[in-house]
Amino acid sequence: KKIAVFASGSGSNFQAIVDAIDQGELAAKVELLVCDKPNAYVVERAQKAGVDVLTFQAKEFSSKEAYEREIAEKLAEKEIEWIVLAGFMRLIGTVLLTKYQNRIINIHPSLLPAFPGKDAIGQAIDYGVKIFGVTVHYVDEGMDTGAIISQQVFECEDEMTRDAIEEQIHKIEHQLYPSTLQMLFTAGAKDPSLQQK
Ligand code: GRF
Repeated sequence: KKIAVFASGSGSNFQAIVDAIDQGELAAKVELLVCDKPNAYVVERAQKAGVDVLTFQAKEFSSKEAYEREIAEKLAEKEIEWIVLAGFMRLIGTVLLTKYQNRIINIHPSLLPAFPGKDAIGQAIDYGVKIFGVTVHYVDEGMDTGAIISQQVFECEDEMTRDAIEEQIHKIEHQLYPSTLQMLFTAGAKDPSLQQK
């Protein structure tokens, strides 16, 4: 499958996807990185991996529709089949949702529907939960609200520091995201509207 990864930050999940492809664990090709933060570290990772990069700054466009139309053109040019969000800090709007219905996936560092939105790990730690986890889900117009595809949990030991919890969550992400994508790409997409929320 030809995929575009959308990211805004360090891109460790982008890297995990690229590495899984290199190792033959994920049958896909990252044709494009779309990034709304031109200085983000993920841009360097993409350049090192030989992946084309499309950067943009939302403030230079009059609306979400305007920048998404530009992204959509590039995706069409590259015949992108799936959009994979990996730390992309913007809600996807109607232009891309319409063109890529049931073909946009996100990873979120909590057991949804708990702790959607920003700093999910911090939210969970501050709440004092004992069971943490990661969710891969379809993207809809809401914030981390789409149908769930896969989840993985881990139980926090009492003495774990914030850093150790974060590290464990990222470790889970880097394994769960490529394996879930592989499952989706080989099994074919199920219609998320058939899944119970
Ligand atoms: C990850 O925790 C992901 O679940 C969330 O944003 C973070 C991105 O991290 N959506 P990275 O840029 O992939 O390292």
